Amino acid sequence: MSSRVRLVLACVATLAVIAPLGWFWQASLLPEEYSVMDMGYVDFGGGPRPGGLADGVAGHAGMHAGGTSIAGLVADPDRRPDVRVDLRAEKGTFKLASGREVDGYTLNGQSPGPVIRAEEGDLVEVRLENVSVPDGVTLHWHGVDVPNAMDGVAGVTQEAVRRGESFTYRFLADRVGTYWYHSHQLSHEQVQQGLLGGLVVSPREGVPADVDVPALVHLYDGARTINGQEGDVPVRALPGQTVRVRVVNTDNGPMPVWVTGSSYRLRAIDGTDVHQPAPVTGEAVLVTAGGRADLEIVMPQDGSGARVEAGGAALVLGGAKHTESPAPTEFVDPLSYGSPRPAGFDPAESTRSFEYVIGRRPGFLDGRPGLWWTVNGHMFPDVPMFTVAQGDVVRMRIENESGDVHPMHLHGHHALVLSRDGVEATGSPWWVDSLDVQDGESYEVAFVADNPGVWMDHCHNLPHAAEGLVAHFMYAGYHTPYSIGGNGGNRPE
Ligand code: C2O
Ligand code: CU
Repeated sequence: MSSRVRLVLACVATLAVIAPLGWFWQASLLPEEYSVMDMGYVDFGGGPRPGGLADGVAGHAGMHAGGTSIAGLVADPDRRPDVRVDLRAEKGTFKLASGREVDGYTLNGQSPGPVIRAEEGDLVEVRLENVSVPDGVTLHWHGVDVPNAMDGVAGVTQEAVRRGESFTYRFLADRVGTYWYHSHQLSHEQVQQGLLGGLVVSPREGVPADVDVPALVHLYDGARTINGQEGDVPVRALPGQTVRVRVVNTDNGPMPVWVTGSSYRLRAIDGTDVHQPAPVTGEAVLVTAGGRADLEIVMPQDGSGARVEAGGAALVLGGAKHTESPAPTEFVDPLSYGSPRPAGFDPAESTRSFEYVIGRRPGFLDGRPGLWWTVNGHMFPDVPMFTVAQGDVVRMRIENESGDVHPMHLHGHHALVLSRDGVEATGSPWWVDSLDVQDGESYEVAFVADNPGVWMDHCHNLPHAAEGLVAHFMYAGYHTPYSIGGNGGNRPE
């Protein structure tokens, strides 16, 4: 072969490699501004094409044609609020209770922001003011099934609130339980750096405990804290008193929580009471990122107190003398914990059944080469748009073959866990809004589509969401007028 032929061959070979790479790179670039409704492809979950969608290609054009704007999906505008809160968001340095200085974000000068307390049935009104957060800010009510326009997702359910602007959230606190709120604008940065707080909804007749302690666990700049305090956090409790500890995992990974010096009951998961929870000893609860676990401890009569260990910080109840015990290797399994009772709907009567298979492969995400997450084999933004009609009974199989754990979070709904790895749930109905799916695991869940709008369904390891582990549920006949990017600078992840 002459050297010229060899050179030509080499060029052709190089081009053969580079040209498709270039094409993939180019194809992965996200537009400056886009609607989540234009993302990916429509998935009807094997169910009928819902009414309200135009005929023709199963594309998004039909969805945009008319329909109701989600902007109108709000709580009763005429009702006077029962709980009113003002939250001022700022960027800057602040001090943890321990004195450590942290760079990040505060609400009313503190992080975590104030715990908002409401009673079942209250209308809660929160006015968020962005004093000095340059990228804009929102508040998402994690675990509360709010009307869609109150969901706080920048570019999906509202515009990010720019500096000097404000936004008022109104929703009905119609389910008792432990919840939290956090920014859903640049959330992987803003949440980690402190834009979050707790929300507790109590029964009208009061919480069935003598002492009620919200425990927001958060890692600030390497410091593990409970309610912003590092190390041992004292809680007053007398012998014989019942203490309800509301653990909120605001971090990105699963967190073991356990009790030294007493047995405990796992009273609630993600805000829903467990039916007939048995006492637990020698086992930890693994709290999903974004998830909540309410632990009930009866203080020992001998005055020896108890410790609740949560990811490196601890609540010291009743002046406990105990020292930290090593983490149990066994965990409470909610699949079989508590006793069964009717869940209120029949998952066997499902209208649609979706797959959410999480994988990982090399490729380009918005022009960046890397190993990226996939949903059903597709990389963001080419992910499924799970499409439902109001009233559908929806099943979903979540499978993880990606090599990492993912705390999957569905907005606006609570899902009932039916099975894990083919093993059926036998305990109390296990309702989740945040569910850890370990590598190699699969779950079947079901829910009733009773809250119209466009809802995120994403990984709550927030950097994973920013790496594209995001899909949406949408109700046929609705559309969102908001968009990602553009002048609004909306960046929900
Ligand atoms: Cu706690 Cu989409 O978020
Ligand atoms: Cu993840």
